[in-house]
Amino acid sequence: MTSTQTPSAPTALILGASGAIGSAIARVLAEDGWDLVLTHRRDSEAFSGLVAALSATSASVRTVKADLTDQAVGEVLAEAVGPSPLQGVVYASGPTIRMTHISKISPAEVRGQFEADTLGFYTAIHALIPALRKGRGALVSITSAAINRYAKKDMLSVAPKAAVEAMTRGIAAEEGRFGVRANSIGVGVIDSGLWHDLMAQGAYTEEYLNAARRAIALPRFGTAEDIAQATRFLLSPEAGWISGQLLNVDGGYAL
Ligand SMILES: NC(=O)c1ccc[n+]([C@@H]2O[C@H](COP(=O)([O-])OP(=O)(O)OC[C@H]3O[C@@H](n4cnc5c(N)ncnc54)[C@H](OP(=O)(O)O)[C@@H]3O)[C@@H](O)[C@H]2O)c1
Repeated sequence: MTSTQTPSAPTALILGASGAIGSAIARVLAEDGWDLVLTHRRDSEAFSGLVAALSATSASVRTVKADLTDQAVGEVLAEAVGPSPLQGVVYASGPTIRMTHISKISPAEVRGQFEADTLGFYTAIHALIPALRKGRGALVSITSAAINRYAKKDMLSVAPKAAVEAMTRGIAAEEGRFGVRANSIGVGVIDSGLWHDLMAQGAYTEEYLNAARRAIALPRFGTAEDIAQATRFLLSPEAGWISGQLLNVDGGYAL
């Protein structure tokens, strides 16, 4: 007997969908026919604009307000997903960072950064593993290319992201038996999102950017769209035998 049922669309949950990288990922996944659960921490014009733009696509979109530093965020996310499977989870969240030398960073500041990034990631992902198992889904963690080639003054970003990357490999190793894949994308210098915060802080001086230009193989900085295209691939069936990898999308920075 031939089934006339249309297969249901896969669902991806994007943590940090209100950010530059998260929103670019939401747009490409909607184009590919994914249904989306989008998290945001604040109400922002950028996020309402994204949701409005997605309403013109065929994607079913649900939004969840969630602060990853909230200890109850796991329950908030599990409740939002309910008994449904997830075929994709993307971690595209992270606090803004202060770029400075390790000698000028207090342990308290490091603790805060790990809480907002690494612990936030762990709390959210831990709660979503049952839905990923049900969906035989894939996790993509947005981390940093500086995990492979250290960038001076970037410790507050790199160290928490290195821990996120290690946890992502752990999930790949332990959850593979349930059909779950997990990979990270090491983001290089991209002209989106956090870049604008760092410009405003004065961390990205002309001298810094010139040095960054010389450090990458390709003759341009990246964009959120570059990261979204790599995420699209890692979530797709074409990447069905790729797990536990860190894919640097960095213009050849981490060579
Ligand atoms: N852009 C780059 O050059 C670059 C390079 C390497 C790595 N990365 C990393 O990639 C990630 C995304 O970068 P981006 O450029 O897209 O940054 P972004 O535009 O600043 O977006 C950050 C996202 O994280 C969310 N967020 C921050 N703190 C949160 C919290 N406590 N709870 C829940 N959500 C929280 C924000 O939510 P709200 O806006 O709703 O508050 C937003 O969705 C960051 O972790 C960043 O460090 C970026």
